[in-house]
Amino acid sequence: MLSKAEVIEILKPFKDPYLHRTFEETGAIQEITIKEEKNHVSLKLAIGNPNSAEQMQLQQEIVNALKKEGAATVGLRFSKLPDEVMQKYEGAAKKSKEAELLGGQDDVNFISVASGKGGVGKSTVTVNLAVALARLGKKVGIVDADIYGFSVPDMMGVENRPQVRGEKIIPVERFGVKIVSMGFFVEDNSPIIWRGPMLGKMLTSFFKEVEWGDLDYLLLDLPPGTGDMALDVHSMLPSSKELIVTTPHPTAAFVAARAGQMALKTEHEILGVIENMAYFESTLTGQKEYVFGQGGGDKLAEVLKTDVLGRLPLQQPYEEEDEFAPGVYQKDHPTGNIFLKIADKITKKFDE
Ligand SMILES: Nc1ncnc2c1ncn2[C@@H]1O[C@H](COP(=O)(O)OP(=O)(O)OP(=O)(O)O)[C@@H](O)[C@H]1O
Ligand SMILES: [Mg+2]
Repeated sequence: MLSKAEVIEILKPFKDPYLHRTFEETGAIQEITIKEEKNHVSLKLAIGNPNSAEQMQLQQEIVNALKKEGAATVGLRFSKLPDEVMQKYEGAAKKSKEAELLGGQDDVNFISVASGKGGVGKSTVTVNLAVALARLGKKVGIVDADIYGFSVPDMMGVENRPQVRGEKIIPVERFGVKIVSMGFFVEDNSPIIWRGPMLGKMLTSFFKEVEWGDLDYLLLDLPPGTGDMALDVHSMLPSSKELIVTTPHPTAAFVAARAGQMALKTEHEILGVIENMAYFESTLTGQKEYVFGQGGGDKLAEVLKTDVLGRLPLQQPYEEEDEFAPGVYQKDHPTGNIFLKIADKITKKFDE
């Protein structure tokens, strides 16, 4: 029969899996009840990230440890630690996760680009925002986290593949932006059929096994929608600020709001909304036509309590012969200029 004191002793080596602090430091143990006749131990624990895979793991370990020391059955209930405790340790925990992902760097700003559905311009926004940030003198990388639907290399006109130095992948650099994409690792555009764990490993490698060097911003082009894949990517990131891309149609904004909710659920902050394909402006008359409707961006920003950081017209980049990059707007292109303004707003937001 275990006593309360013994249970406390057994729990001593355990740490909060999210905050990496001992139970003693976080005050995790809320209640211990022991039912002598049944040799049953029940525990109430408060942890940093309940209802997560980490919790499942911890649960298993605690049950095993208590049973090993003599408990017949163990009941566990988890709740979230109070805000004061979270505030005290969460910053450091996030930084250490970030440093672990990026070979020791813990001051990189992650920006992930998401949308409720496909084809609204996530990749266009990712690529051009990255290029704009680089044009402002920032050190920028892109992880094309759209493993199945990678498009960043094509958009940026990258034709070479990354080199490998020792154990590390050297990202391909284009327009001053370092790029890693699944597209570099598949032959002749064949479809990718990995799932679950393999996928997770691939993504982790995109951070850990890449020689990123010094970075100010790392942008992530997320897979479309709010499915498993997008969720996985979200939960493996330390903490990112998220841009939500939508078209101006009010119903599109409704779908995009789900992406925003997902970001919040996985504890990512929302950076703002980008309204893409907002209008078509005639080069002949200068008149704006709202081909896909109006108001979607504003509506989405209102729902997510954030701002519209920019509105992009329907327009192609200039055609250039010497620098082939079909998705990159030139610096002197009106859309390139809009991206510079968005990039400027974003750097200010991060400096706040
Ligand atoms: N403002 C724009 N003007 C003209 N064409 C655009 C604009 N934005 C995006 N496009 C084009 O629309 C298509 C879809 O854009 P993009 O690939 O960026 O969307 P996505 O959200 O990343 O799509 P997916 O969900 O497939 O990843 C591309 O061919 C792109 O060049
Ligand atoms: Mg895309």
